[in-house]
Amino acid sequence: MEIGIDKIGFYTPHLYVDMNKLAYERNVEPEKFTIGIGQEKMAIAPLTQDPVTMAANAALEILDEEDKEKIDFVLFGTESGIDQSKSAAVYVHRLLGLNAQARAVEVKQACYGATAAIQMAKGHIALNPESRVLVLGSDIARYGLNTGGEATQGAGAIAMVVSKDPSIMVFEGPSAYLTDDVMDFWRPAYSGEAFVDGKLSNEQYIAFFSRAWDQYKAKTGLELADFDAFSFHLPYTKMGKKALKAVLDEGSEADSERLLANHQIGAIYNRNVGNIYTASLYLSLLSLLEQNEDLQDGSRIGLFSYGSGAVGELFAGRLKNGYREHLHVERHRELFATRKEVTVSEYEEIFQETLPTDGSRLELDIHQDPANVCLSGIEGHARQYVNKASGIREEKVAAHVER
Ligand code: COA
Repeated sequence: MEIGIDKIGFYTPHLYVDMNKLAYERNVEPEKFTIGIGQEKMAIAPLTQDPVTMAANAALEILDEEDKEKIDFVLFGTESGIDQSKSAAVYVHRLLGLNAQARAVEVKQACYGATAAIQMAKGHIALNPESRVLVLGSDIARYGLNTGGEATQGAGAIAMVVSKDPSIMVFEGPSAYLTDDVMDFWRPAYSGEAFVDGKLSNEQYIAFFSRAWDQYKAKTGLELADFDAFSFHLPYTKMGKKALKAVLDEGSEADSERLLANHQIGAIYNRNVGNIYTASLYLSLLSLLEQNEDLQDGSRIGLFSYGSGAVGELFAGRLKNGYREHLHVERHRELFATRKEVTVSEYEEIFQETLPTDGSRLELDIHQDPANVCLSGIEGHARQYVNKASGIREEKVAAHVER
């Protein structure tokens, strides 16, 4: 049975900051951010967007009534979850109006969460071939103002329907995966921002990729020449390029040219969004599929996932005949084109806005946010969500606004 990605949707908030302007304010040469790190624009999440709303917005783009009926498993990868107990998947399940006969759970291992979710989805479909699984990756990457990691922040989500006989990509063959206890990045339960040893995380990322690649070759007998492209987890776009370069001398000149060119195309969306942790690898895959019109049906794409702490996995997929017809290229062009730039001081202000933690009520102005699904406020420690498209909770918000 063929199992893979049947649909893929994407969402990023409508605000961004220009990295050249951030560099100027931080007294850094702009080329450090745009070339050295490889980022042009950084998506900023207003308070009306959180990992739940972003994931729901990405999923709304792709789900039809049949999906809503058939999805019986919602797997939500995130490392910026909103609750230590209740999974973000349950909120999304309600906001999308999915069938109650479904499982809904959150999956956590830093940026690896959505890949773990894909592997679980494969197992679920192998046992239940008629099932459709909604895999979500959604995160707001926060390191803090004026920190070393600031230039590698971002916000966004990817939603994928994984099923048998998929329309876009079939997962192929065995995976290579490994775990090692490394303190390169972690976020204690009491902290809103991550702690990171940036240099160590860079080293570990490359070491995990090299080890996974050696394991993958031993398991499959495949080599660089067998791949049309590799998509990488991209905490910043230069990171994937560094890892790829670590193995390129194994191949020919033509392999290097092809893989580097496709890496650059796969980094276009990520350059303009920033790090979205669990969803970054799948955003890079989406960028490659939507921006490279020369990929052939049957092209083999390697996917490398790295979650600090650390778990790494390398696996592959092959494109299906007619995959381009199932992408939303125009909608994503529009999503990027209609974003609004904020100044660095506006970004700093938004960054420091927080929801009350004392149980008091706060109502947010969701009319400033063009997204369908928004966080409309908080009441008694419970986040209030609105799906403008379906009217879920809209009446309640309208009543509050009138008062
Ligand atoms: N023009 C061009 N390139 C420049 C430059 C300039 N004017 N100034 C600096 N650079 C280059 C550096 O040479 C370096 O390139 P290299 O990595 O290829 O050597 C790059 O810009 C970054 O400079 P560096 O001094 O290493 O940056 P930093 O100390 O600010 O740290 C990170 C960068 C990524 C480690 C930091 O942003 C971070 O900790 N991010 C969060 C963790 C993360 O994303 N980890 C990734 C693995 S999960």
